[in-house]
Amino acid sequence: MKIATHDPQPVSRTGKALRLAGLFAFMAGLFIADTLTDLEIAIGVLYVAVPLVAASFLPARAILLLSGLCLGLLLTSYELTSGGDPAAGPINRSISVIVVIAATMLVLRIRPAILAGVAAREQLAQVARVNMLGELTASIAHEVNQPLSAIANSGNAGLRWLGAQPPNLDKARQALARVVSDAERAASVIARVRSLARPVPPHREWLNALDTVEEIIALIRDELTRNQVTLTIESGEGMPPVLADKVQVQQVLLNLILNAVEAMGTTSPGGRTLRIRISLAEGGQALFSVQDKGIGLKTDNVEKLFDAFHTTKPDGMGIGLAVTRSIVETHGGKVWATANEEGGASFHFTLPTSRTDIP
Ligand SMILES: Nc1ncnc2c1ncn2[C@@H]1O[C@H](COP(=O)(O)OP(=O)(O)O)[C@@H](O)[C@H]1O
Ligand SMILES: [Mg+2]
Repeated sequence: MKIATHDPQPVSRTGKALRLAGLFAFMAGLFIADTLTDLEIAIGVLYVAVPLVAASFLPARAILLLSGLCLGLLLTSYELTSGGDPAAGPINRSISVIVVIAATMLVLRIRPAILAGVAAREQLAQVARVNMLGELTASIAHEVNQPLSAIANSGNAGLRWLGAQPPNLDKARQALARVVSDAERAASVIARVRSLARPVPPHREWLNALDTVEEIIALIRDELTRNQVTLTIESGEGMPPVLADKVQVQQVLLNLILNAVEAMGTTSPGGRTLRIRISLAEGGQALFSVQDKGIGLKTDNVEKLFDAFHTTKPDGMGIGLAVTRSIVETHGGKVWATANEEGGASFHFTLPTSRTDIP
């Protein structure tokens, strides 16, 4: 499996340029202040902020370069400063130099661990996704097979209309149009599976919440039918667009829906209802709720369900909810579970929208 390696937080190119410009402005300001103030005022120690901030978006070599530049500025300021206590000067200068060097070394040592953490999380999400798609093979095969049989039928019908005496071109054209639209349907199912299976770097865009839900439902419709689950989807009026990575949001939904279906395994078939609701939460966030009529939450410590490798299923992996929480939180949302009064569980998560208040 390919592991994407990139910065701890993926930052756009303009974002990087802006941050770098901010760092340079900070260094210039610090240089002026350090030069103008007296020797006993140890402003130079604030250069320590530079490697710390740079670590979040720059590669190791650039962090080293910047730290070197800071040291150069520090020493130049010291040479240029004439006022103040000449005894305090060298002490302040040495402390500042040591602090900047120590911070840089620490940052460079911790960085690989941070990067490895990000890579491991991505890998786990990828494993979970492929695992879920594996569980859905029957459903996916069915979703592709349906348009394929329709294509075969329409193709045969087309041949018959063409072979008739005289040939009925109108009917043949209609049959061909059905072939084309069914082929497009099959292709779109495959495209959806591929986008879910492929490891891709996160890409946030403005999404229609209901379309995002419906698109993933199309992939598991057969899974729901086979398990005799009745599904209702409700969406609030005038929902603002959601800012999120579509594949990741669909992975979250898929996790929660598959868990709900599994939780309803022992519910009598007539009572297996799944409700997905989309509404606007406080602060302008979009709230997604997946409600089931399953066995319910069998624990007082609901938080524990979100721990990695916590599972109550004989063949469970226990990573679905851990990945869910990681995805939702990196989007700036929250995820939690509640027990339904009438039995079963509900899982809720929020995502930012165009109306989310920025604190
Ligand atoms: N809808 C639900 N109803 C009841 N319990 C649930 C539900 N969803 C998750 N759980 C509990 O949370 C545990 C962890 O879920 P998850 O992280 O998806 O791992 P897995 O499904 O592999 O067990 C499950 O084993 C189950 O005990
Ligand atoms: Mg699960």
